[in-house]
Amino acid sequence: MSIERSTKIYLAGHLGLAGSALHRALRAAGFDNLVLRSHAELELTDQRAVRRFFAAERPEVVLLAAAKVGGILANDRYPADFIHQNLAVQVNVIEEAWRAGARKLLFLGSSCVYPRACPQPIKEDYLLTGPLETTNRAYAVAKIAGIEMCWSYNRQHGAQFLAVMPTNLFGPGDNYDLESSHVLPALIRKAHEAKATGRAELVVWGSGNPRREFLYSDEMADACVFLLSLSGERYASLVRPEAPPLLNIGCGTDITIRELAQMVCKVVGFRGALRFDASKPDGVPQKLLDVTRLAALGWQARLPLQEGISRAYANFLEVLRAAEKDAAKLTG
Ligand SMILES: NC(=O)c1ccc[n+]([C@@H]2O[C@H](COP(=O)([O-])OP(=O)(O)OC[C@H]3O[C@@H](n4cnc5c(N)ncnc54)[C@H](OP(=O)(O)O)[C@@H]3O)[C@@H](O)[C@H]2O)c1
Repeated sequence: MSIERSTKIYLAGHLGLAGSALHRALRAAGFDNLVLRSHAELELTDQRAVRRFFAAERPEVVLLAAAKVGGILANDRYPADFIHQNLAVQVNVIEEAWRAGARKLLFLGSSCVYPRACPQPIKEDYLLTGPLETTNRAYAVAKIAGIEMCWSYNRQHGAQFLAVMPTNLFGPGDNYDLESSHVLPALIRKAHEAKATGRAELVVWGSGNPRREFLYSDEMADACVFLLSLSGERYASLVRPEAPPLLNIGCGTDITIRELAQMVCKVVGFRGALRFDASKPDGVPQKLLDVTRLAALGWQARLPLQEGISRAYANFLEVLRAAEKDAAKLTG
């Protein structure tokens, strides 16, 4: 059965990067029976609170975009927080969604679930075929447990829970804190500050050689709404009990960090030099998702990367100006 515009949908994590994009996409597609709770309103690691919430709301569809997320630095420093909080959120939401009778659930994982050295582009079948990247291993293992939970509930309970693995996302509401951000928002911020302060040089972490894939968050959300809206039979083919219910979401092309930094500098208007600090970790040499299965279903990314970066930078400037206004009000 496909979903109706009136279907009751719980979107967990609607204020985050992925969740806010999903919120915009659901609204734009006419879904208006949405259940939303901020982190302050509902602590998803709290099993009792989550059970009470699901028993009261009984959503028909659940989108799980709430997670503890961070870049290399944060993952490396706080592995216990990453594994504990993500496992707890997943265990609570997936179990309670099933208990409350949710028909469908979309669990957002990440491309870091795949082995460090797997062939490129990365097919869904490569899951659990080799050792993981060490810098975000705790996070990846939690996400793999989430995939396994979706599969187990499909097998044991006949649930229709799907785990989607988006590639690196960026977009409105991204995290620009250099301590915990991902590479693209960090580059946007660094390039902006280098330009604003008239610096001659911009230092980029790592050798610049790793290849990465980036997807604008609204495109990822469009893909998720597309998947949820698939006819009963086509959606059911994704959650068959015989195989892990796993689907990659990406744009199908990657670029080097060096090329990415050059593109960001062009968009931001920073004309100084780029210096690559090879003493900092590179992570895996390449990460490109194979999106053949998603394309065969009929979805493809459309937004060119540079256009996505321009939109993200416009949003970064908006947020910065709003923060400056607020600070001026406080001091004035
Ligand atoms: N960002 C990417 O590049 C990327 C790529 C692939 C997949 N994904 C996946 O997308 C999902 C969301 O990532 P994101 O980048 O959107 O992260 P994000 O911007 O940090 O958003 C996560 C949201 O979840 C909320 N949250 C975290 N812990 C919670 C808890 N214990 N209880 C209730 N709410 C909680 C956060 O609230 P607070 O901020 O108030 O804590 C935030 O609103 C993750 O599963 C991630 O694996 C992200």
